[in-house]
Amino acid sequence: MYSITPFAGRAGDDKIHPLMCGIVGYVGPRPALGVLLDGLKRLEYRGYDSSGVVVLNGKGLQVERAPGKLSALAERLKTRPLGGSTGLGHTRWATHGGVNEANAHPHRSCDGRIAVVHNGIVENYQELRAELKGHAFTSATDTEVLAHLIEHAYARTGGKHPLKAVTAALERVRGSFALGVIFADHEDLLLAARVNCPLVLGLGEGENFLASDLSALLKYTRRILPLEENEVAKIDPSGVQIFDRELGKIRRKPMKVAWKAETALKGGYPHFMLKEIHEQQQTIAAEISGRDAALDDVRLPRRIDRVVIVACGTAWHAGLVGKVAIEETARLPVEVGTASELRYGDHPFGPGVLTIAVSQSGETADTLAAVRNAREAGSKVLAITNVKGSTLAREADQVLFMRAGLEMGVAATKTYTSQVMNLLFLAAHLGHRRGTLPAARFQALLGEARRLPGLVERVLEDTAEIRKCARKFSRGYDFMYIGRRYNLATAFEGALKMKEISYLHAEGYGAGEMKHGPLALVDDKMTCVAIAPAGRVTEKMVSNIQEIRARRGRIISVATKGDRSVRSVSDHVFEIPACEEMFSPVLAAIPLQLLAYYTATALGRDVDQPRNLAKSVTVE
Ligand code: AGP
Repeated sequence: MYSITPFAGRAGDDKIHPLMCGIVGYVGPRPALGVLLDGLKRLEYRGYDSSGVVVLNGKGLQVERAPGKLSALAERLKTRPLGGSTGLGHTRWATHGGVNEANAHPHRSCDGRIAVVHNGIVENYQELRAELKGHAFTSATDTEVLAHLIEHAYARTGGKHPLKAVTAALERVRGSFALGVIFADHEDLLLAARVNCPLVLGLGEGENFLASDLSALLKYTRRILPLEENEVAKIDPSGVQIFDRELGKIRRKPMKVAWKAETALKGGYPHFMLKEIHEQQQTIAAEISGRDAALDDVRLPRRIDRVVIVACGTAWHAGLVGKVAIEETARLPVEVGTASELRYGDHPFGPGVLTIAVSQSGETADTLAAVRNAREAGSKVLAITNVKGSTLAREADQVLFMRAGLEMGVAATKTYTSQVMNLLFLAAHLGHRRGTLPAARFQALLGEARRLPGLVERVLEDTAEIRKCARKFSRGYDFMYIGRRYNLATAFEGALKMKEISYLHAEGYGAGEMKHGPLALVDDKMTCVAIAPAGRVTEKMVSNIQEIRARRGRIISVATKGDRSVRSVSDHVFEIPACEEMFSPVLAAIPLQLLAYYTATALGRDVDQPRNLAKSVTVE
């Protein structure tokens, strides 16, 4: 069933959310190091510049850090295993200070008896650093001031009250953070705090956990308690306690997460991305089951004059599919904006505008900021997100939870097709409710949706032609992806996949727009990927392809099986089974994900962790 949650959160300050690092914490009977390294491994897709751990044992706080991938840290720890059953770990995506051991987390107080791991940015760190006279700094990071600030505040409590010390220190800090703190004086204790960066607590039996992303915890527990804005938490083996900044106790029930721990493993595939591409048969089946009935539960505003879809990157592409579908079925005008633009300036939100925010992670900073604009302007916000307990899920008026499961590859694949499925269902339901989509057509669309998992399976069955093209075209050519209507978004998404993991130049463009400029780029070195499944614009696409062929461009087409017109003008064809045009973006996306994947692997790229990127863009 669709999970619909009423508004249950509040908008935080509109600050940057630079969380592209990972935090893991453990307190309990197990050797902490194993839990920390295992959790960090599952978070490595977040940030992967450097990593570190701190474990408390009889010798005090023992720290090990290393620049580079987590394997570098693991290698060091082989010769220096750290015993102890309380600890913190961190993977870093550098913001302040270069990538080196000194800047890797954890950072320590002068006396080495307090250590912190931090995601986010301490905006006033220079001012604080200047104030902390007499403290010796050993890194170029903003984070290190936190260790010294807490040390200072802790001394003022007579070395007795770690929680008071943390809250007092945070009073001085401007910025955004998720924080884990460990004190040498307090066995079996971790402290945590959150401002504008996600942080979740995991509840076990006689052991408890802390993480910036629940994927690190799934192996150990499904009972999750997300920290809310400005909360601090005390974590020991017997339980967790949550406080506000004045140390008033907060009581909240944990939630149960259904995701399987195995989703964070590669399951025999060489990369998460390939595994996740192949999971789409199941994830799309999951999106469909019970969806139509459950969508009736979505409480939409009585009056909807317009729809505005806000999202970033791949989610924005899903929004473009949603626009065509909602305009066609519900006859409502739809604007789709990238959230990074909609968060500033004269935005289009207001009463009568249904805002649909699409975000896999539910933590994308720009999307959250645009959503806050929308709510302030009186717009109702419907979120489509994959992550329960995410900031977006908490701040939206209504939520449609995707059922893609955990996605580890930085390049979105199964979450894209899930987003598209949610938007298509929503469009059909809006049309049905508004009476703009005849009942028989509505039922026909639902019936067609139920065929999709089988059709996806057929797309995934035969990838020989895709692999052949990947080998052939991976030698440094430019790619131009073109499409129209429902598959304009597929062109954008195909090009994004190609550029982000292969690092080859790829553009997505409206096929009808080529003659207005980009055609000048076409010569025999240009590979054009034309998304031309059967539908209202197939003939137009054939004409657009001809224009490219006439200029000696090579053509790879995505076409409906048996379509001769597209095949006759193409050098290579990736076939997809016949389906309703509305669902064609779901099927057409898959060969393009595979083309990007096989091209990137032919070039020896780091497919799951491409350079310069992070899974969740929580920085503005
Ligand atoms: C796509 O492969 C990227 N991972 C990126 O464009 C992503 O879709 C974008 O950052 C939005 O993320 P979200 O869905 O978590 O908000």
